[in-house]
Amino acid sequence: MTRPFYVTTPIYYVNDVPHLGHAYTTIVADTLARFHHMCGDDARFLTGTDEHGQKIVEAAEKRGLSPQALTDQVAPRFRETWVDLGMRFDDAAETHGFARDFIRTTEDRHKQVARALWSKIQEKNPDDLYLATYEGWYCVGCEAFYTESQLKKDGGGEWVCPTHERPVSWVAKETSYFFRLSKYGDALAEHIEKHPHFIQPEQYKNEVLGFLRGGLRDLSVSRTSFSWGIPVPEDPKHPGEAARHVMYVWFDALTNYLSALGDPFDAERGPDVVRYWKSAVHTIGKDILRFHAVYWPAFLLSAGLPLPRMILCHGWWAIGGRKISKSIPATRVAPVALAHDLAGSSSVPATGIDALRYFLLRETPLGNDGDLIYEGLIERYNADLANDVGNLINRSLTMLVRFGGGGIGARDAALATTGPHASLARVAAEAARDARMSFENFAPSRALEAIWRLVREANAYIAATEPWTLAKDPARKPELDHVLHTLTAALWWTRLLVAPVLPATAAAVDGWLGAGLAERDARWPAEDAFGTDLPALSPQAATPLFPRIDEKRAALLLEKWLPPESTVSSPTAPSVRPQPTVRPEPAGAQAAAVSKDAFTPAPLAPTIAYDDFAKLDLRVGLVVAARAVPKAKKLLELTVDLGEGRHRTILAGIAEAFAPDTLVNRRVLVVANLAPREMRGLTSEGMILAAGDDAILALATVDADAPPGTRVK
Ligand code: MSP
Repeated sequence: MTRPFYVTTPIYYVNDVPHLGHAYTTIVADTLARFHHMCGDDARFLTGTDEHGQKIVEAAEKRGLSPQALTDQVAPRFRETWVDLGMRFDDAAETHGFARDFIRTTEDRHKQVARALWSKIQEKNPDDLYLATYEGWYCVGCEAFYTESQLKKDGGGEWVCPTHERPVSWVAKETSYFFRLSKYGDALAEHIEKHPHFIQPEQYKNEVLGFLRGGLRDLSVSRTSFSWGIPVPEDPKHPGEAARHVMYVWFDALTNYLSALGDPFDAERGPDVVRYWKSAVHTIGKDILRFHAVYWPAFLLSAGLPLPRMILCHGWWAIGGRKISKSIPATRVAPVALAHDLAGSSSVPATGIDALRYFLLRETPLGNDGDLIYEGLIERYNADLANDVGNLINRSLTMLVRFGGGGIGARDAALATTGPHASLARVAAEAARDARMSFENFAPSRALEAIWRLVREANAYIAATEPWTLAKDPARKPELDHVLHTLTAALWWTRLLVAPVLPATAAAVDGWLGAGLAERDARWPAEDAFGTDLPALSPQAATPLFPRIDEKRAALLLEKWLPPESTVSSPTAPSVRPQPTVRPEPAGAQAAAVSKDAFTPAPLAPTIAYDDFAKLDLRVGLVVAARAVPKAKKLLELTVDLGEGRHRTILAGIAEAFAPDTLVNRRVLVVANLAPREMRGLTSEGMILAAGDDAILALATVDADAPPGTRVK
């Protein structure tokens, strides 16, 4: 029996058309589904649209439409975008080999299950849903309530939402149903501790545990001030209330993950729930972590349902250092248009989509924030796609046609164990193994790194074996045959391994090799089968797949992508390395700029011997979590990964220069062998290096993603 693998994206609000941030989550989930299908799992993919709630009501009013008309207009835009990006819904099983569903929360199948979940909670735990009054701050962008301690004040002293940075609105006293969330804190913490992979990557698990430690407040889960939602079941209008209660939009929306499978409480309508539910992996962005890792499991526990397998949380993409936002046109990147631009004159236009998928997945480890810098995109396209994989495909096929007469040569078992032939086989086996492990561990960027080791080794193999020289000497025909066969094997494995991320490339190579392997039938190769698992092939020459973006085209693209007022980058210099993560400006940066001229360095300390220096053990540390230390204005408590298999607590006096959130995922330099020190009831196990003092504080860091624990000398 195949293992089920059920992967979901968040369902998208229909007040907005799809942008690159939405595309990222969807592409991550799609890649995982394709990979698992290739490994023989029973994959299932779900996406959809979140169509109820105040946000949609307001967006519809602005456009002079009814909410239903707005959702009917925008929901198809999402579906079409995913179709344009190569995801099939209607004939998914036929093309991809696995089921792909698109759910709208205005569909009956969904409403029915949302109501069933509510009723089940009432039935199993009658005290979990109770009527009470609330008033408080609400962010329509997040569709969430906030306490003042969770909000920020803007320049004018107004409370603003920390995610949307827009003013929140005051909701006057209203009666609503509350969900007894406070009852579930311990059960959730226990579940997370017992299932260490429930929230991934690690830093987000720590964030949720921190949130749980702060204690949970009951959650308002219905509204009467508008009617655009799913009515609370069996709940007539209460005397003195303006209208019937509709469910809080997050209660409604989260249920989509179940409703798309069927009714969990009805044996006849829910066999897919039984089959897939426990394998569910919810791919989400970090802004909606709390809803998925706290509220959703609490609702499920209350209804007596099992929890999903995993909440897989990713960071945010910025464009040229700026957060994607409606109000900044340069950040409103339409994914399909960008893919189209990248395709340029490719003989297979869909490889523009592959290029976009590749960049998004390769550039930033899942979980970290990413920054799309257009020059970096072009540079990576040219280096990894045009140069590495594009060249490999082109050169191999050309040589198979020219020197192999359209055949694929023949394997020589003795030769296979020698020199470059053996090392290519070894690298290929490692690539298949490492990439598989990385995909299984939800690390697509590492999987791609592993696959590219094979691609580069295969290019190096061509240079080392020089098939064109072998072809000149009839006596070396058996060697040539073996080289051509090995090259075909490398191309075949490249086609298989890239398929989850670059499906159009895989299909094109398949066509040129004459393999006739439908996407749904392609399987991940067995590690020990390199060179021995080739199907019948009849190669033909390739046409350009990833044409190089030369300086002239780069300038044109950058001019198109960067609006004239943009100061993000120069349109003519495609040479800047991409920034691996979004690094918000440290709070001290402005002060540094102001006081630079007046700066006099402190006098030098007395000279020390090298041996004194060598006593210091300096290491690269990755900040996994950061939080304020209560009642200590200057101190932050950092959780730092030094590659030791456990995390260290390090206290740093940098609270006045850095907000805790801005430090997570940053690499810092740590004095790792400093004696532990007690401060404020905590033990600090090391010291972070920083330059300057309170006014000008800059963290010492490394300019590449060196692994945590790397020694600094
Ligand atoms: N409707 C809710 C989700 C309900 S799921 C039961 C919602 N919708 S959303 O349209 O606002 O966002 C959907 C997803 O897009 C979120 O995971 C969010 O993190 C992601 N992104 C939106 N902007 C993004 C970036 N700039 N970068 C990466 N992902 C971002 O929230």
